Amino acid sequence: MHTQGEQEIAAIVAKLTTNRRLFGTRFPHLDREGRYERGMNEDGSWTGSFWTGMLTIAYRITGNPALLDDLYRYLPVYRERLRSGYTDHDLGFLYQLYAVALYRTTGDAAFRELAVQAAERLLARYNPHGKFIRAWGRLEDNDLRGKIIIDCMMNLPLLYNVSAITGEPKYREAAAAHADNSRRHLLRADATAFHTFDFDPDIGAPLGGRWHDGYAEQSVWSRGQAWGIYGFALSYAHTGDPAFLQAAERMAAYFIGHLPADRVPMWDFRLPDGAPRLKDTSAAAIAACGLFELAQASGTTTAAAAACDAAARELLAALREYSAATDETRSGVLACSYGRLNGEPSHLYSIWGDYFYFEALCRATGRDWRMWL
Ligand code: GLY
Repeated sequence: MHTQGEQEIAAIVAKLTTNRRLFGTRFPHLDREGRYERGMNEDGSWTGSFWTGMLTIAYRITGNPALLDDLYRYLPVYRERLRSGYTDHDLGFLYQLYAVALYRTTGDAAFRELAVQAAERLLARYNPHGKFIRAWGRLEDNDLRGKIIIDCMMNLPLLYNVSAITGEPKYREAAAAHADNSRRHLLRADATAFHTFDFDPDIGAPLGGRWHDGYAEQSVWSRGQAWGIYGFALSYAHTGDPAFLQAAERMAAYFIGHLPADRVPMWDFRLPDGAPRLKDTSAAAIAACGLFELAQASGTTTAAAAACDAAARELLAALREYSAATDETRSGVLACSYGRLNGEPSHLYSIWGDYFYFEALCRATGRDWRMWL
């Protein structure tokens, strides 16, 4: 795995070096006919930082100053996004992997300032009655005021990190309270996750689990399960609360225990006969990163750590079949990483699938960049 992993990492770095010339300061999201540059966006959607996060990892691997120059060129874009009033729980993805990761990489106060501004914006979505972070919608819109989603577990590291950077506990307290509510309400008894859960936004009373992504309300969206594994593992790393470790371990046990023979999940673990069947390789890549995090967790026993490490490597080995790292006709890296688009099965490349595959390869080869810590 080590030599293969190194070759794969080198191929991804070479692909990024080509892509960055094509992308300028725009962002890839999903490919069109194999090419990201046919469907770029200007502001970063919810996924822009997976691209700049890949550049940051490549910079850490190579020390190539041209990559850092590129990353600085995106700074006005990330600043403008906040200045123009953008708000969504995905602020966490966007500014953790850009502002926090680059502050840790360079020590430049400009990134620290951006991280703090983004954390303030995310904190404004915290509902003190229900002790949760609202997922979607503008704050002035009444709809969706009481909705949380499992994906948000990966948006909490921005808050934990800004508390660590500033010494101001309010961000960490909100993140930990949200994680606790997610554990109590998004997690079902069998360690699968609802995609979303609704609260009464005025009094905070829990109302019930709901469905958005995945196949159905009681099905198991594989990417949501993966967000939960990695997200709870990171909440444990940031807080030391063993309830988060247990939640991550239970979600991981379900994920591993329900994989098909080729070890790459379908986009939903509970698809009825006749439902569209398609892989979501990004779910496997995110879960692999979460399993590597669990293997390193201080509260994990030696045997459990070894099992998590082995399971992560097994997922990575299975993903190799989907890798286009050396295929110059494709600008993406990991095929079949969306799952379903507007109700239809899709074989798309996604920048988040590429990012987590790259991060997992780095972890597998002993490069612990700790992009979320
Ligand atoms: N966070 C959105 C998704 O996983 O599709």
